[in-house]
Amino acid sequence: MAAVSVQLLPADDVMAPSTTTPFALPSQHIVDHVVAVETVAAPAPRKRNVFDMFRLDGRVAVITGGARGLGYAMAEGLCAAGLSAIAILDLQTDLGESACEQLHSEYGVTARFYRLDVRDEEAVQDAMDAVVRDLGKIDILLLSAGVADLVLAEEYSPAKFRRVIDINLNGSFICAQAAGKHMIAAGRGGSIIFIGSMSGSIVNRPQSQSAYNASKAGVIHLMKSLSAEWAQYGIRCNSISPGYMDTPLNTAFEQEYFPEWKARTPMGRLGQPEELAGCALWLASNASSFCTGSDIIIDGGYTVI
Ligand SMILES: NC(=O)c1ccc[n+]([C@@H]2O[C@H](COP(=O)([O-])OP(=O)(O)OC[C@H]3O[C@@H](n4cnc5c(N)ncnc54)[C@H](O)[C@@H]3O)[C@@H](O)[C@H]2O)c1
Repeated sequence: MAAVSVQLLPADDVMAPSTTTPFALPSQHIVDHVVAVETVAAPAPRKRNVFDMFRLDGRVAVITGGARGLGYAMAEGLCAAGLSAIAILDLQTDLGESACEQLHSEYGVTARFYRLDVRDEEAVQDAMDAVVRDLGKIDILLLSAGVADLVLAEEYSPAKFRRVIDINLNGSFICAQAAGKHMIAAGRGGSIIFIGSMSGSIVNRPQSQSAYNASKAGVIHLMKSLSAEWAQYGIRCNSISPGYMDTPLNTAFEQEYFPEWKARTPMGRLGQPEELAGCALWLASNASSFCTGSDIIIDGGYTVI
């Protein structure tokens, strides 16, 4: 492919004006300089397969709430792309340890479990320090630890309301801050993926879940705030906001709510956990290198109607 090179020439070098080219100059025109245009060969395009941009070879990821459900499914997606090591941070030891065994045996990745409560800032800082000591660094942080409860607003005890905000919103901040400090100190940037929810933008019906909805709206705006603050360090922050997904978090509501949730979703079904893995991989990898501050809703169309 040819490229155009533009160069200023002294007037003496100007050839007799031609009336047949678009660059013709009137003969009486007095000029000091004129623009000469020539075509030169463009450098051969760098061969870059788009799939290579999704590779995570050599990277280390931390996943909170990765012992099961959406966190585990997204952990699998990252491991399949060549991640070198993964840390699962969760409250549930048995599930967390077996998740690590499974990831190691299926993908050959180094996988370590760290038990903690995301509300406990000292435990979180200790765990992030331990990850850097044990696995070398933190390139990717995915924040999937979360809880939901359905309570009428007029009956919500402040303690119960506070618990949801504390785990979902404050816990996300505590983990992002602890990992962010390591990313900033290392100077290599990173990718932080928050798990919001469509409930951060809409109010679910028919169930009442004011604390959950408020917590997820907070998570999405926290993500946007950190994306603006930390772009200077090469740290990208984005969120995935799922609609109704088929995970243990929702099993208790199967009889009562699934039919209505499906009816209100244009695709007529709940999402499967692995249907978030492609987006998590995109956000974790260089394939999304210009994406920060974005909330990506994956909800089978729920929020469009
Ligand atoms: N399932 C859905 O329909 C849905 C929809 C939108 C958003 N989400 C969000 O996705 C995330 C994952 O949900 P899921 O469906 O996989 O739930 P899940 O209950 O299957 O998994 C959540 C994990 O977080 C862990 N966890 C909970 N509280 C914790 C704490 N205080 N400290 C450490 N770990 C803790 C749990 O042990 C569990 O392993 C949550 O943030 C949830 O709000 C879920």
